[in-house]
This record gives sequence, C-alpha cells and structure tokens, in this order.
Amino acid sequence: MKNYKKDPALEMPTPAEVGGLSGSSALTTLLTDAIKNIYWVENKLVMTLPALRDQATTPQLKMVIQQHLVQTQNHVTRLEEVFLLLGVEAQGNESKAMSGLLEDCDTIVNGTPPGSMTRDAGIIMAAQQVEHFEIATYGSLVELSRTLGFRQIAGLLHATLDEEKMADQGLSLIARTGINWSAEHEPVDENSNSN
Ligand SMILES: [Fe+2]
Repeated sequence: MKNYKKDPALEMPTPAEVGGLSGSSALTTLLTDAIKNIYWVENKLVMTLPALRDQATTPQLKMVIQQHLVQTQNHVTRLEEVFLLLGVEAQGNESKAMSGLLEDCDTIVNGTPPGSMTRDAGIIMAAQQVEHFEIATYGSLVELSRTLGFRQIAGLLHATLDEEKMADQGLSLIARTGINWSAEHEPVDENSNSN
C-alpha cells in the first residue's frame, strides 16, 4: 500500500471511534455504491481525455489534459485499493450525471471552430465542469469515509481530491493567462463549420 500525504483533518477522531456511531451498514452501502460510480467515471475519463487533448490547440492546454490523464490513471488505481480495503470486488456503475456532462462536452467542442482559441476556451469550460463534479463527489466520499472510521480509505480519497482541485486550478490559470483573451480577440470566420 502506498503512503500519501496526510491532511491534518484526517488525524481527528472519527464519530465511529469516539462511540458516536457503531457503524451503519446502510451508510457503508451508500459509500460503496458511490465508489462504484466514481470508479466508472475515472475509467470513462481515461478513455475520453486523450480525444479531448487531441482536440485542443494550445500546447499548454494539451499539457494540462495530458498531465491529468496520467493522474486519472492513478485515481483508478487508488479506487482499486479502496475496493480492496472495503473487501468489495472492483466494479463500475454508470454515473448518469457524468454521461450527461460528457455529452455536453461533445456539444461544446462541436459548437466551436476546430483549431480555434474559442474551442480551447470551450474545452477548458467542459473540463472544469467535469472537475467540479469530481471535487464534489470526492469531498463527500472523504467525509463519509471519516464518519464510518475508514481512515485509510479517507486518506486515499483525499489524495485524489487534492489532485482534482489542482487540475481545476490549472485550467483556470491557463484560461486567465491567455486562452480566453486570445479567444475573445480571434477573427470571426463567417464560413467556418464547427465540427
Ligand atoms: Fe479524477
């Protein structure tokens, strides 16, 4: 088992440890089901991010997506460690929310001219929508794990939460420091087909 950076909050006693909860099987089921959803999400993103990277134009955006692809592969591995700790077989259940976000992503990208800064701005927006979904999900999963006294699982999920937040900040940074401005100033091609 790998060691991950510890968040001081994770050192606090959990409700289960101080006797506030004796452990709820329904809550454990809720956690396990949500882990199966995010496992499906991470695997889906491993398949989807290469295409998104290839649709981007600027080297900075390609690099941010590529870096997050490598992190995402690691998120899959971490979740497999979580399944092991839960004593549950690793399996994914479709997240309809993420399926919808990825459909929206296609719509956004296809609605912009290829090779344009506007398309890059759209890719950033779609990628941030995905990141915010993941941040919300992992944030909840960390708290559920802590409540149940699953300290090691909380640590693993928290490591991923930190990386999702960093990816989101990286996207904001490249939008703010060039891509959005370039998109706003690029000439409008009346004849361009967006696909
Ligand atoms: Fe992720």
